[in-house]
Amino acid sequence: MEKPFSQACENNKGPILEVLKKHFRPCSHILEIGSGTGQHGVHFAPALPHLIWQCSDMPGNHAGINAWIDEAPAHNLKRPVAFTIGQHPWPKGDFDGVFSANTAHIMQPQEARLMMELVAHNLPKGGIFCQYGPFNIDGRYTSDSNRSFDESLRNQGYGGIRDIGELQDWAVSKLQLVERLAMPANNFTLVWRKV
Ligand SMILES: C[S@@+](CC[C@H](N)C(=O)[O-])C[C@H]1O[C@@H](n2cnc3c(N)ncnc32)[C@H](O)[C@@H]1O
Repeated sequence: MEKPFSQACENNKGPILEVLKKHFRPCSHILEIGSGTGQHGVHFAPALPHLIWQCSDMPGNHAGINAWIDEAPAHNLKRPVAFTIGQHPWPKGDFDGVFSANTAHIMQPQEARLMMELVAHNLPKGGIFCQYGPFNIDGRYTSDSNRSFDESLRNQGYGGIRDIGELQDWAVSKLQLVERLAMPANNFTLVWRKV
């Protein structure tokens, strides 16, 4: 099949990798939630050879992710497992790290909430969750372009941009926000640690 392609992934994979190299250093097994096209996993796994990278997404996206892996396999990059928040159980595996990019604003609010609760529940103490995407701060958009993006997301039936405070509430005191890194294109990487 023709590989799906995201230009945004191509643009953000370099800056995100720098964050992951630092924060996933103590981790050995990463679960990626919402792998999308698969471009992130294919780029990150070979650059983080000390860990295993497990892709996951809704089953409909697996063929595309597998097409990327077929072209660029890596010993530590695992083919996607079915994980749709709200439908499937937490995947099997001793994950001490979780990565998810651009998913919280696509999910419905109750799914984004469940994602925070599941990560908070399933990570071991000291486990790391790196969450990338557009987020609001104290109820405010961080740019006019994010305001327009949010409007278009909601018009299309997606959940919309989430507030960092709301995510923190949903993490029910089990995840501590240790870094809020400003990234290119008005995005953030949120680094959460299980306490
Ligand atoms: C905008 S794409 C981002 C894909 C990729 N992470 C990236 O940054 O390019 C949103 C992803 O979230 C996934 N997604 C949406 N709702 C989900 C849910 N309830 N559970 C798991 N994944 C979900 C979609 O299948 C899709 O892969």
